[in-house]
Amino acid sequence: MTDTSTASAGSVPLAPRAWPLLGHALPLLRDPLAFIMSLSGYREMVRVRLGPSSAVMICDPDLTRQVFLNDRTFDKGGPIYDRIREVIGDGLSTCAYPLHRRQRRLCQPSFHPSRLAGYGAVFARAAAAKAGSWRDGDVLDVTQEMMTLTTRATMETMFSGALPAETMQRCLADTAVIVSAFFRRMMTPALLRRLPTRQKRRYDDARTRLAATIAEIIAERRADPTDHADLLSTLVAAVDEESEDGRRQLNDAELADEALTFFLGGMETTAITLAWALHLLATNPDVQHRLKAETDRVLAGKKLDPAHLPSLGLASRVVTETLRLYPPAWMMTRVVREDAELGGVRFKGGSTIVLSPYLLHRRADLYDEPDRFDPDRWLDAQPDRATYIPFGAGARKCIGDQFALTEAILALTAIVDRWALTPVGDQPFQPKVETSLSSRGLRLRLTERRSSGAGDAERSAAAPLSASVQPSTQPGAAACPVKHGK
Ligand code: HEM
Repeated sequence: MTDTSTASAGSVPLAPRAWPLLGHALPLLRDPLAFIMSLSGYREMVRVRLGPSSAVMICDPDLTRQVFLNDRTFDKGGPIYDRIREVIGDGLSTCAYPLHRRQRRLCQPSFHPSRLAGYGAVFARAAAAKAGSWRDGDVLDVTQEMMTLTTRATMETMFSGALPAETMQRCLADTAVIVSAFFRRMMTPALLRRLPTRQKRRYDDARTRLAATIAEIIAERRADPTDHADLLSTLVAAVDEESEDGRRQLNDAELADEALTFFLGGMETTAITLAWALHLLATNPDVQHRLKAETDRVLAGKKLDPAHLPSLGLASRVVTETLRLYPPAWMMTRVVREDAELGGVRFKGGSTIVLSPYLLHRRADLYDEPDRFDPDRWLDAQPDRATYIPFGAGARKCIGDQFALTEAILALTAIVDRWALTPVGDQPFQPKVETSLSSRGLRLRLTERRSSGAGDAERSAAAPLSASVQPSTQPGAAACPVKHGK
């Protein structure tokens, strides 16, 4: 960069192939990942245009971290969050800086390690039940299967008692409609978004129905406020002791926003992480073989349990490596609240900044053979805070990171213990880029493994899930072997 002390954001180099009027909208819509990776030659930042507006994409890990850590100036905002806010209002993940600290204090107890151990037991049972529902030779729609698994597990951990199957199905269908519409709506100009198309009606209906279902569940819980040892109980009981009167709690509207935030934020991200992990195992049979050996050794015929987590080192590395290669939140946006300087460039208030874990995770100067699936790269290395950011960083770092890791590691273990996975067809499978890096359309073939004694225990665990989440008597028992620092 030339005279960095005086450069303005307008002087940041513009990415090539900008069309008049459209800017980079076409390459971004046609093949977003190829477009993002074509920018990896820019070491610090590059400007991208979407129609009349432009955004600066940060390509450097240290500058990315500065943005994450200074959330007062580089606040949640920009096209992704504007669309997400349409659905979940000012929930924890979308609220602006002035509201955030209070919301985070109120939500944090729901993810306390003492709660996680109880959630882990639900995850283990849900995974065993899912793995027990398949048949030898099945070809799975992997993403759909993982979505039903994580929806069920999220519902159980959030709302304890098993919801009626019909409610669960409705939530799942509505969530799928909302999630698949996000990216399209993000890229569509405001005027076109308001047109009364069939797609818009489906999206609006799904949004209204899902919000009504959550509101119903909250009303029931208000009527019976005993501790159900689930996420909702903790949210209902949370008190902000740092508020003016020391007694501030979430009202019904805020509770609904938070419940929707956790539901939408946690379910799809974890499902696609699992789907990608299964894809990577199917296409890397040597790693799959070693993972099966790990499950045999650790389970040794016993039922899967959160207490096994510290021994599931390879499963944990597989998840870490999957999140490096396919970070569901492949890009994030920030809005600059007031004029600010970053990396020697002056940004005007209102500018949009784009951060991309996908770009950083695949940079050849940061990772050896960045496109290769190699869980063992994490054998002696902890994920680096600046270059490994699947959960973001700083005060806005994912509140559900340990929740998701616990769920993913237990689910992978349950599945690989019982099933061998192979690809269907010989075409390489490509991500469908939406708001998240979707694995939609991924199919894998299952072959039942017959050698392990552990399968019997798992089969008997494939019974319907029990009604409630038990709180742990061992705080931290579900601690994940992978730690993602702030
Ligand atoms: C593999 C699974 C997951 C991934 C990859 C993931 C990724 C992320 C990322 C990157 C952020 C930061 C976004 C930003 O800074 O712009 C985030 C925030 C958040 N995530 Fe997750 N997430 C996952 C699972 C979950 C789960 C299971 C939950 C809840 C049950 C959850 C709830 C949230 C919330 C509430 C925030 C906002 C935190 C705040 O602003 O204080 N996530 N997530």
